[in-house]
Amino acid sequence: MTAVSAQALPQADPSELLRVRGLTTRFHLHKKAVTAVDGISFDLKRGEVVAIVGESGCGKSITAFSIMGLLSPPGRVDSGEILFEGRNLAKLSREEMRDIQGNRISMIFQEPLTSLNPLLTIGFQLDEPIRAHLKLGKAAARERSLEMLRKVGMPRPEAVHASYPHELSGGMRQRVMIAMALSCNPSLLIADEPTTALDVTIQAQILELMKDLRNELQMTIVLITHDLGVVAEMADRVIVMYGGQIVEQGDTFSLFRNPSHPYTQGLLNSTPNIHELKDKLEPIKGTVPPLTNMPHGCRFHPRCPHAFEKCVSAAPGWVDLHDDHQMRCWLPEKKERSLHEHG
Ligand SMILES: Nc1ncnc2c1ncn2[C@@H]1O[C@H](COP(=O)(O)OP(=O)(O)O)[C@@H](O)[C@H]1O
Ligand SMILES: [Mg+2]
Repeated sequence: MTAVSAQALPQADPSELLRVRGLTTRFHLHKKAVTAVDGISFDLKRGEVVAIVGESGCGKSITAFSIMGLLSPPGRVDSGEILFEGRNLAKLSREEMRDIQGNRISMIFQEPLTSLNPLLTIGFQLDEPIRAHLKLGKAAARERSLEMLRKVGMPRPEAVHASYPHELSGGMRQRVMIAMALSCNPSLLIADEPTTALDVTIQAQILELMKDLRNELQMTIVLITHDLGVVAEMADRVIVMYGGQIVEQGDTFSLFRNPSHPYTQGLLNSTPNIHELKDKLEPIKGTVPPLTNMPHGCRFHPRCPHAFEKCVSAAPGWVDLHDDHQMRCWLPEKKERSLHEHG
């Protein structure tokens, strides 16, 4: 992956699964439109796990919803391309998009209870999409459902198949959601805070399961989380979002070893780390700006301990830090200038 601009479109690469360019998603409220995702660009390669991190309200879920075609009015993708398996998802009809949802691209959410219908059995909810997408008969679909329940480590799959969502624990419901998401062999799985609502032990089990499935099925996974411990454990690559934009992206090793954007540094300094005992955690001061009041220049400048004049007046462009590691920040330029001036 290289720093990507909205204009340059390189030739199709067989290892590439998804290419997002200049994705801009707005909410068209009665008085004015607010921009939740502001011109983001990134690529996903087949079989990789990419984490999207950032504080609450930075646009992670809206990015996922935009890709999935799950926005509802007043939310709308206003511009940009979402190229997936040769098609621009941003331009597909609702009908065409339904065929991709849950089939080629699946999504799992934070709270599995709200995404399962309380009135229908687990079995019915698993079987139906399998019948529709894979064009299987009743018995074959049921077989496939049971196989998926087994695959996600569900004890007594027949009993689970016959039960209702409220009869299962949170961890089991999340396993059902994963089984459902995987049942039609998607090439892309988007997991939006998939373990946030679960207790720590179950969390670890679900992550372990996702890792196994990824290795077994060679799936591409977008993992949205605010937990950097999970990122270090799971992700090949990391995208850091702030104020609806990507501020730093890179391979996990490089980004953790050399976090460069002050926002990324802030996230890391405010995260407990089991591997290294930090004397104290330092929360990032201030809060994420509301969409109605985005700062000019670099959006992070009001909270940035290193901000100088230029950060207030102009938005920084991409700076290459390493082969697969870039950020948007004025600090490297400032450093270079001062080296020049002071010999
Ligand atoms: N239906 C909506 N109407 C207006 N603004 C919304 C709506 N949904 C989300 N937003 C705003 O979009 C921004 C990004 O939200 P989101 O993607 O959910 O953040 P994250 O997932 O990073 O916590 C937030 O400022 C949020 O308030
Ligand atoms: Mg979210």
